[in-house]
Amino acid sequence: MEFKTIIEPFRIHSVAPIQMTTEADRKRYIEAVGYNLFSLQSDNVLIDLLTDSGTGAMSRNQWAAIQHGDESYAGSPSWELFRNAVQNLFPFKHVIPTHQGRAAEKILFTAVGGKGKFIPNNTHFDTTRANVEYSGAEAFDLVIAEGRDAANLHPFKGNMDVVALEKFILEKGVENIPVVMMTITNNSGGGQPVSLENLRAVSAICKKYQLPLFLDACRFAENAWFIREREPGQQDRDVADIVREIASLADGMTMSAKKDPLGNIGGWLALNDDDLASVCRNLLILTEGFPTYGGLAGRDLEALAVGLTEIVSHDYLKYRIQSTAYLGNALLAGGIPVVQPIGGHAVYIDAKALLPHIPALEYPGQALAIELYKVGGIRGCEIGTVMFGRKPDGSEVPSAMELVRLAIPRRTYTQSHIDYVIEVCLAVKEKASKLRGYRIVQEPAALRHFTATFEPI
Ligand code: F0G
Repeated sequence: MEFKTIIEPFRIHSVAPIQMTTEADRKRYIEAVGYNLFSLQSDNVLIDLLTDSGTGAMSRNQWAAIQHGDESYAGSPSWELFRNAVQNLFPFKHVIPTHQGRAAEKILFTAVGGKGKFIPNNTHFDTTRANVEYSGAEAFDLVIAEGRDAANLHPFKGNMDVVALEKFILEKGVENIPVVMMTITNNSGGGQPVSLENLRAVSAICKKYQLPLFLDACRFAENAWFIREREPGQQDRDVADIVREIASLADGMTMSAKKDPLGNIGGWLALNDDDLASVCRNLLILTEGFPTYGGLAGRDLEALAVGLTEIVSHDYLKYRIQSTAYLGNALLAGGIPVVQPIGGHAVYIDAKALLPHIPALEYPGQALAIELYKVGGIRGCEIGTVMFGRKPDGSEVPSAMELVRLAIPRRTYTQSHIDYVIEVCLAVKEKASKLRGYRIVQEPAALRHFTATFEPI
């Protein structure tokens, strides 16, 4: 028999307390930090859905591996375990360990970016875009049109628009495009997967023009699970096998090990090109560390090696994707517009649709995120005009979508936590028409969402 209750495929092994707060407490806390959810003390958050990055629970085997870590400066056996685990799924010739994903991005774009260069991606994540732009290069998002439409039910809304990609290559010139990127799953576009068919098509275009294809593979296992579930002919495949095929289509990858590799910290850059690898290793030594540990302790390398074996478990991925959908479907049933289909690691509430009376430049996503915190102590993240609206030339342009992301940390919350989240969201929906926008009081030059302060209008 199939039962409808999704049970977590693990038992709780150690617990971290949640500190209870009242609505009155939370109103004070959020006002005191200028209405920026990143500035809250996490003790004052009940359910922290700010990110799924580094916030997951490690398994007992990972904790055991932590004890096994070898902290030799050079040539540690922990490094061998890590490199083998990475290459088992992503058989790239060179693996360069970094402390997190953006460090890999910084190294890659320092090596290949610069003024006059153009980087296409399905959709750049904010740190990826920032690292491209910091190098002087320009970042372009070429996701398919369906990927920009929150309600469209296309099964692979992370796909690259291959016609647009080829046009882009011809317009900008092959010599000005150092790398083509593909983000799997497409985080900023709603946690949406990319199909194998699309990856093959992008790979073929890259081969035709002799351009290297790099994956931003943070959520590769969730993406591969969606391929197994949704793509014709993939239903009987092992997820690890799908991941290897994805890797075979690319020439390298940047990676945050704080997502699917189930680490609290970590990342890597992997690639086949010997000369580029040598440049990147030298940059690694400047800012991260020696090439056999990069930005990580031996114990972190070991925990990640184990995480990489656990993440491709079908039992885990089935639970993971179903439990994210459980939250999304409950919100939809309650009349709350969310990006569909439901993504892998998060549910994205469509704040533009829920709060049509708040203009983009009064930040409807921020208004909604603040209200979820005040009412229920839930911390989500605005992915809209606050995050993307400020352009390098200083102008402010509304983002295509105004979303609030409720990201689900891996193996961390139970169904009753999620049931509580659903109740809070429904309560906020009831008062949606009364919510007001915000204005920015102060903001930094780049990545303003992390530190800007706001006040209610
Ligand atoms: N690429 C994608 C698609 C990401 O989602 C992230 C991080 C990064 C790169 C950078 O990795 O944080 O290890 O430096 N995303 C987190 C998030 C922060 O909340 O979505 P990092």
